[in-house]
Amino acid sequence: MSLEVKLPEPNKSTPLSQLLLKRRSIRRYGRGSLKLEELSQILWATYGLVDKNRRVVPSAGATYPIEVYVFVKNVENLKPGIYKYNEDKNTLILMREGDFSGDLASACLNQEWVYRAPVNIVLVAVYERTTSWYGERGFRYIYMEAGHVGQNIYLASTELNLGTVAVGAFHDEDVKRIIGLGDEYIVLYVFPIGRI
Ligand SMILES: Cc1cc2nc3c(=O)[nH]c(=O)nc-3n(C[C@H](O)[C@H](O)[C@H](O)COP(=O)(O)O)c2cc1C
Repeated sequence: MSLEVKLPEPNKSTPLSQLLLKRRSIRRYGRGSLKLEELSQILWATYGLVDKNRRVVPSAGATYPIEVYVFVKNVENLKPGIYKYNEDKNTLILMREGDFSGDLASACLNQEWVYRAPVNIVLVAVYERTTSWYGERGFRYIYMEAGHVGQNIYLASTELNLGTVAVGAFHDEDVKRIIGLGDEYIVLYVFPIGRI
């Protein structure tokens, strides 16, 4: 015998519900640049600190295997370049100067939104940080964590009236070469961000 229980109607007017209703993948962006404040807000929601030892997303054993790289093409008061987000100090560390959106887009199978976006956030993992604790099982934990991070990027962009889309189709080695990353790194996700 099966039992089916009718649930109370969800309250879809809460701030989080409103964001969830509005969230969608956006692949067409206006020409405008991003403000440094907007970029900072999104990066904090991506992988920022909530206190000394914890971040805005859950992480298996608090191992935090993900690193956040930022391809800047058009942000007010910021040189185009590839930066690493330093969560501890809320800073961006310049890795390579210049606009690499063309290289990144071709590594992403020529997805036009990657080329057009004023910013692309690239999520990269160092597997070792989690697998040294959890062995093989650590791999799935890292992918799960990337999902948490990705949803935060969607929700923060939605709140700021910016558009984003999760991009999982790319040539791993090409993206790594453009950023200048070694063998221990794995690229997980690319998120173009732009004005709607
Ligand atoms: C793991 C993953 C990989 C994805 N890769 C791409 C991609 O390479 N290019 C793209 O345009 N969209 C990509 N998407 C976005 C999906 O197409 C999109 O989320 C889906 O169509 C549902 O639409 P919505 O996000 O607007 O609800 C990806 C989504 C996920 C979760």
